[in-house]
Amino acid sequence: MKIFLPLDSVAKALGADDLATAITKEAAQRGIEVTLVRNGSRGMVWLEPLAEVVIDGVRHGFGPMEPGDVAGLFGNLSAHPKALGPVDDLPWMQRQTRLTFARVGVIDPLDLADYEAHGGLAGLRRAANMSNEEIVAEVTTSGLRGRGGAGFPTGIKWNTVLGAKAPQKYIVCNADEGDSGTFADRMLMEGDPFTLIEGMAIAGLGVGATKGYVYMRSEYPDAVAVMQAAVQIARAKGVLGADVLGSGHAFDMEVRVGAGAYVCGEETSLLNSLEGKRGVVRAKPPLPALEGFLGRPTVVNNVISLATVPVIFERGAQAYADFGLGRSRGTVTLQIAGNVKQGGLFETAFGMTLGEAVDVIGGGTASGRPVKAVQVGGPLGAYMPREKFETAICYEAFDQQGGLIGHAGLVIFDDSTDMLDMARFAMEFCAIESCGKCTPCRIGSVRGVETLDRIRQGDTGAVALLTDLCETMKDGSLCALGGFTPFPVMSALTHFPDDFATQKEAAE
Ligand code: NAI
Ligand code: SF4
Repeated sequence: MKIFLPLDSVAKALGADDLATAITKEAAQRGIEVTLVRNGSRGMVWLEPLAEVVIDGVRHGFGPMEPGDVAGLFGNLSAHPKALGPVDDLPWMQRQTRLTFARVGVIDPLDLADYEAHGGLAGLRRAANMSNEEIVAEVTTSGLRGRGGAGFPTGIKWNTVLGAKAPQKYIVCNADEGDSGTFADRMLMEGDPFTLIEGMAIAGLGVGATKGYVYMRSEYPDAVAVMQAAVQIARAKGVLGADVLGSGHAFDMEVRVGAGAYVCGEETSLLNSLEGKRGVVRAKPPLPALEGFLGRPTVVNNVISLATVPVIFERGAQAYADFGLGRSRGTVTLQIAGNVKQGGLFETAFGMTLGEAVDVIGGGTASGRPVKAVQVGGPLGAYMPREKFETAICYEAFDQQGGLIGHAGLVIFDDSTDMLDMARFAMEFCAIESCGKCTPCRIGSVRGVETLDRIRQGDTGAVALLTDLCETMKDGSLCALGGFTPFPVMSALTHFPDDFATQKEAAE
């Protein structure tokens, strides 16, 4: 008997480890031999812990499992109260286009043979026979853009590093996933770490870098452990090392853990931290692509950008570029969270409307109340009201609507949410996380909290001051933290003016 049970930290937080113990015990008592595979999560958080039992070669799901449901896995499975049927047939799975996440939740994350059996290393083997220029051109043709948030074309970034003359170049993976409501990087690293390693190795071959680093947040201990184990296995099996899969080009990598600061997700701050310095933002230029880690040309890419590279090389750049909308090519890994009925990871081609993602895929709010707003793109993203639900999820459409996709986190709020509170939270978050290097962010965010408190107390004149302050922060901040905090603040003020007038009206 073969059972899959996630080792993903969300599944663990919901009791997966206790279930694993219960399954092993029950099987021993019944004298049944069970192969228990700890896989990644399929991304259906409301069904976790999700156990999958292989019946006639098909994986049938049971969830959300509780210890009392374990005995039933050894009885009449079709009568099990948590039976969901074949996992691949569930609507959540059927509606997706899983390219980057194709293996997550499917394979044993640390079994390299399993990885290869599911298409792993095919991309690296192809890249190993290509020239630097061909590799970079392939990424450019795919249309892949940075999935960390800024959406900068990956091929152009790689080309800058390829063209830079230096004795040493680096690949740095930004795995400091700090946006609230986002978890795609963590899920990928916990569920399919070899994909990231393979993507980094291809990047190394492409730009001529021999060393890579994954910079991870300390809040992700499970992902750190899986990544470290995967790097060791990859090195032992020749995926990393002196002669990466016969290409004649060396590439090796290490995992580094940050101490935990939101601003260390900003690329130059990350590089400072990686060098052992304080995580303070550096002025750009110079771009990290020219003077990055230790002053050398460095590719800094997000986990999802790098983990998408293998499938581009496996299937071909055009096959990837065939998905998407306008200049947003390929797939986006939506992370649906907050007050939502069905939260989780949903990979789809760019172009789905925001409304479909929230109402159909997410199923509306968990509270059953109407959706008031969706914050897209983390704590620096705009609050989108229902009137903007027709917006297609792609870089350009969101930009036109005064928003940003960021790392593609959607956090849903119901109609009981006070948007002035949310605007205050954005300013307070910025004040706490500011690195302190520039004045609009360091001082502006503190003044922003005070100004919002004045509005709360009925000072209507403070609204103009808040608007003015947001303009200054937007135009004068050195990095996205101070520069993008006005997005949530101003979107809350613009779309939900009533929430900024309540105290005044009450006083009148
Ligand atoms: P940016 O627009 O300054 O740069 C984008 C990227 O392109 C950078 O890596 C930059 O070095 C590179 N680049 C620009 N011109 C280049 C050239 N000619 N050649 C090579 N490379 C070039 O944006 P930034 O400040 O790096 O990122 C801001 C974004 O980060 C925001 O959109 C925000 O959503 C996102 N973000 C993501 C977080 C997360 O947890 N993933 C957290 C906070 C913000
Ligand atoms: Fe630092 Fe804020 Fe300025 Fe960014 S905007 S450099 S976080 S002070």
